[in-house]
Amino acid sequence: MIKNISNFIGNNKNVICIDSNINENNNYNNFDKFAYFTNFLPETEVSKLLSMTQNIIVFIINGYEGKKNILTYAIKYYNIINLKDEIFIVVNKKKGANSLEKRISIIFTDYKKMNAEDYSILKITKTNSNVIDVPDEYNNVLYFKEKIKNVTISFNTEKGMFSCEKMDEGSKFIIEIIEKESIIKSNMKIIDFGCGYGAIGIPLAMLHNNSEFLMLDMNSTCIMYTERNISTNRLSNCKVFLSDGLAAINKSGFCDVIVSHFPMHINSGKKEEIIKQFYDKIKINGILVLVMLSKYNLSRFVKDLFSEISQDKSPALPQYTVYIYKKRGL
Ligand SMILES: C[S@@+](CC[C@H](N)C(=O)[O-])C[C@H]1O[C@@H](n2cnc3c(N)ncnc32)[C@H](O)[C@@H]1O
Repeated sequence: MIKNISNFIGNNKNVICIDSNINENNNYNNFDKFAYFTNFLPETEVSKLLSMTQNIIVFIINGYEGKKNILTYAIKYYNIINLKDEIFIVVNKKKGANSLEKRISIIFTDYKKMNAEDYSILKITKTNSNVIDVPDEYNNVLYFKEKIKNVTISFNTEKGMFSCEKMDEGSKFIIEIIEKESIIKSNMKIIDFGCGYGAIGIPLAMLHNNSEFLMLDMNSTCIMYTERNISTNRLSNCKVFLSDGLAAINKSGFCDVIVSHFPMHINSGKKEEIIKQFYDKIKINGILVLVMLSKYNLSRFVKDLFSEISQDKSPALPQYTVYIYKKRGL
């Protein structure tokens, strides 16, 4: 697919590419200078990568980045690139290309649409140095604090995100059980899968500052807020990845614990795929801790790969169950 894009972009340019789908076997060799990222970068990082000559920023949109998020970053990058630099947004026609195009045509004056088979390529050229403001409707930032054990955590979230006004009770409950059972020890590697804005991983990272936390979510708004919350709470033991399932992580058998407020709304095939990925990434005898509404369970996907150690339901919170599993040996 990127081969088609290089036909549109031309070679010998300074290309900054943001493509969350790291598995795609794209060929980027045509470009003179090339930097490749899986997350939207803060403008400060992008400005360090800009050259004096022509810069191209390419967003490859895989469908779960969120329109407001794409547009917010397109505006932020537009404001810092040089005159005549270009931004290309490559979006699958089935993944909302038309509605994205409509918004782009309202925000940016110099924009052109091109077609490349299943993809629309929306090209924005910087033709003047006017600064464009991010529309207010994209700025729905909320703020709250939570106290967990002896730490107070500040959270920024946004309307529309899971449990955006306060931490979800199930997410608090999984932390309570993890702490009660002393699951996390020093120097462990822990994945918070489906991290949202960091509700589970950030408090745990504050409580266990000599363990390392990898926070993953497929939603880039979540990733953006997790990054922001990590920096607000001054944590240095967390990394964040935009990832569908655990696709962003290549290494097998490296993590000690996976925690997750599991997304139960996804289809059965996807649930099974993710549980198999958990099995692959976790060490033998590593621990998987899941919270979910008590009316659901994942036992049919989990039982062959993990042994169940415990199930907890709080009398005050019967709607949630926390499951602790241990990875089976081979
Ligand atoms: C129930 S929410 C939990 C959010 C957060 N951990 C909390 O406790 O507030 C589930 C999260 O899983 C994410 N998610 C759903 N499907 C996913 C997938 N295939 N890969 C990665 N994350 C996914 C959603 O974007 C959402 O943020």
